[in-house]
Amino acid sequence: MIPQDFIQQVLDRSDIVAVIERYVPLKKAGANYQARCPFHNEKTPSFTVSPSKQFYHCFGCGAHGTAITFLMEHAGYGFVDAVKELAGQAGLQVPDDGMRRSPDVESRRDQLFQCMEVAARHYRQALRNADHAIAYLKRRGLSGETAARFGLGYAADDWRGLAQAFARYDDPLLVEAGLVIEHTDKRYDRFRDRVMFPIRDERGRVIAFGGRVLGQGEPKYLNSPETPLYHKGRELYGLYEHRRAIQRDDRVVVVEGYMDVVMLDQHGFDHAVATLGTAITPDQVARLLRLANAVIFAFDGDAAGRKAAWRALENCLPQARDGKLLAFLFLPEGEDPDSYVRAQGADAFRRLCDAAMPLSDFLFAELTARVDAGSDEGRVRLATDARPLLARLTEAPLLARALRQRLAALTGLTREPGQGASSGMVRPRRERAPAPARVRAGARPSLWRVLLQGVLDDPARARLLGELPRGDDADAAALDAVVALLREHPEMTRALILHHFAGRPELDVLESANAGTLEWSSPEVAEAEFQGALNGLRALAARTELERLAGRGLAGLTDEDKARLKALAAGKPG
Ligand code: UTP
Ligand code: MN
Repeated sequence: MIPQDFIQQVLDRSDIVAVIERYVPLKKAGANYQARCPFHNEKTPSFTVSPSKQFYHCFGCGAHGTAITFLMEHAGYGFVDAVKELAGQAGLQVPDDGMRRSPDVESRRDQLFQCMEVAARHYRQALRNADHAIAYLKRRGLSGETAARFGLGYAADDWRGLAQAFARYDDPLLVEAGLVIEHTDKRYDRFRDRVMFPIRDERGRVIAFGGRVLGQGEPKYLNSPETPLYHKGRELYGLYEHRRAIQRDDRVVVVEGYMDVVMLDQHGFDHAVATLGTAITPDQVARLLRLANAVIFAFDGDAAGRKAAWRALENCLPQARDGKLLAFLFLPEGEDPDSYVRAQGADAFRRLCDAAMPLSDFLFAELTARVDAGSDEGRVRLATDARPLLARLTEAPLLARALRQRLAALTGLTREPGQGASSGMVRPRRERAPAPARVRAGARPSLWRVLLQGVLDDPARARLLGELPRGDDADAAALDAVVALLREHPEMTRALILHHFAGRPELDVLESANAGTLEWSSPEVAEAEFQGALNGLRALAARTELERLAGRGLAGLTDEDKARLKALAAGKPG
């Protein structure tokens, strides 16, 4: 592990503007710099770099982070490499003791990458001489060019085929790379007699393989296990090959299979990617939304396809952003993108994409199909089924509001303000209170959000948050987590906090709160905002306690309670 204070030192010595400028031309705009966002396709610049706060934020796609994050997300560095790169530029010596393990880990990773590359080359060469594998691919309509473009290969029908490619078949690296299986004291190739699809990371390095049997057989696809290089919930097949096209067209189509990606590509449709045998993860959705404004999921039209689509929808909700499009397309029954594009051509597939069902339509179509909307019970069920889903649209307040309105129109039911989801209903729509959703521009953020912003802006403020009432939304949860972290590590800075939460559920809220501090034009404004929220929350706490005490009736109160009640009522909660 790299010690935290070293990471901080590296960040202190680096200037995020200089780091980003090497990749993206920046223009000064007031206190900040702006550019067209390198993480998504846009015409007007919404990518902002703050030299004083040392972070970047895109108001369009939500991309957010420090100089380290930028090197990771834009230039494809790993965390350790990014820190090393910045350390080198700043003339800092990476400390010996703290890094003692890391160079080992890093060189181990390098060795694993090399291993995968050697194996990929071996499989590619083997395909040239494997007549039956070539025949199989030809039968499926695959051209040699396409096979070469995706680096397809063949694993021979041989228990120790890789012994030809590696000097030492007993090298533990081969097991760690997932290429060789060790069973009791025997070792043998994981992939035998299969067509090999190399899976690449965003920098084009082979990190895993999917191997398909020729013809019938189980399992149809055998995949690399999780390794230090490969996490299947994170990678997407075809992303490296199609990244440019995806950014150019500002849309990406997610399909289920390797063959779908490859065959679509052969027909000129070059912005498909595939998940790797799993439902799409929120992490994958977030990655795709950084590249393009529209993400379309293609599924089979049968019941299984619908079910898979629903799982994808559930995983998409927390990633939805206003202004982005998530949509679903369903192929005719019995077809997958591979068979469809071979029969109908790429233009027909493009038309399917154009006509894809937006997430909102799919959501309501599925929910209404489950209930009898003609009965009160059915409509109540619809409302109760929908609410927890809509509640997950935390980052798309306008979309959430539109869906709530649609739900209200469909059911004739809306929730009384302040009531729980289970009891809510029966209020004609026109009397409804304004939606509580936080709108990106204009509306006030919640008190907890402002406190969170304040703490990110200056972590020393965490100490002032002592005994505040607990909130129950994502802002409050993130604030709790940050305060708890700072109690353990009071020295942590804004950047370190963000890095600490990388990959954790609080990250989205933290990034968006951090971006909110861009609107604070001076330290004085920041302090006033923070104090205002602090006072607001104290008043809220006092009011809650007052209501609780008053609700118990005088008979239920001790003398101490009564004194407290008096103080609270007088506005002196002390
Ligand atoms: P499908 O069963 O839909 O296969 O699996 P496919 O993509 O149409 O394959 P072909 O056309 O018969 O060659 C979709 C994806 O699910 C994963 C693979 O990633 C596959 O591409 N899968 C499927 C597995 O990992 N293992 C399996 O045994 C089957
Ligand atoms: Mn198929």
